[in-house]
Amino acid sequence: MQLLRDTEGDFVSGQKVSSILGITRSSIWKHIELLRKEGYVIDAVSHKGYVLRSVPDALIPRELQYNLKTKHFGRQMLYHLIIDSTMPEAFKLGRQGKAEGYLVCTEKQTKGKGRFNRHWSSPEGGLYFSLLLRPKVDISRIGLLPLLISVGICDAINEFTEIKPNIKWPNDIIVYDKKLAGILLEIDSEIDQISFVVVGVGLNVNTIKSRLPTSAISLQNIIKKKVSRLRLLQEILFKLEELYYAAQKNGFKDIIENWRQYSITLGKNVRIKDVYSNTILEGKAIDINEYGGLIIQTKSGKKITRMSGDVTIC
Ligand code: BTN
Repeated sequence: MQLLRDTEGDFVSGQKVSSILGITRSSIWKHIELLRKEGYVIDAVSHKGYVLRSVPDALIPRELQYNLKTKHFGRQMLYHLIIDSTMPEAFKLGRQGKAEGYLVCTEKQTKGKGRFNRHWSSPEGGLYFSLLLRPKVDISRIGLLPLLISVGICDAINEFTEIKPNIKWPNDIIVYDKKLAGILLEIDSEIDQISFVVVGVGLNVNTIKSRLPTSAISLQNIIKKKVSRLRLLQEILFKLEELYYAAQKNGFKDIIENWRQYSITLGKNVRIKDVYSNTILEGKAIDINEYGGLIIQTKSGKKITRMSGDVTIC
């Protein structure tokens, strides 16, 4: 593959490949056929050799890790064409002791998991991945991690497409009042110590409208053209890694400030449902605190902080 890339649009002869790699012409042909099956467009012309015309927009490790700017995130990974959900798989790998930054990604999920055990629709065209993290932060600060992830994803989308998404507390990514991406965190911890966190991200990239719930939107719906999922995922991993290590070193002050810039929750009247106790709190969302909790001011003026819940903007 590298030989084909290195020629940058020029033909490389079968003889050259054969002598560099020490393989026969017929095994080169077999390799080319395998690459074509993966979606690479490779022309073969007699007396000239082979030329790479395009690479597939699939999240295969060979492509994702090529030109990836991260140190840890995505450096080890598993790729599936289809899986029930990337979450249990990443969780299992966490328990096996895999390193921080381990990535599990897939083209489709049959049982995508959303927050509060909801289903996450995962047809082809989207980005679905779980990232293993081993944060060295006090457990009381873990509520800031979803905020960090949402800010990193918004930054990456913004840089890649110039769309400026919004965040609905804590971490729903919204454009035109519809959901563009969702984030799910699952934590493995002892009483007061985090062992690892699995961050699951579902982002509607090239998903066609008819395959999405009516409350959702995709990047392709917005900009009316396809987006490279591969390059976008590289950008997301890069941004997340940058923010993650900076926050662990310098604290979450910048994350909180950037989150506020993207927020569509602050300043609004909201209804926040505690899904487990089924109770509802209504009031104005006035700020987030240093732990990532949402501060609500009720009609009577009382200030109440919530660390989790399902927010509706009234
Ligand atoms: C939400 O409800 O907003 C969170 C959705 C998270 C979906 C992602 S897709 C990749 C990973 N695997 C899953 O099954 N869920 C998460």
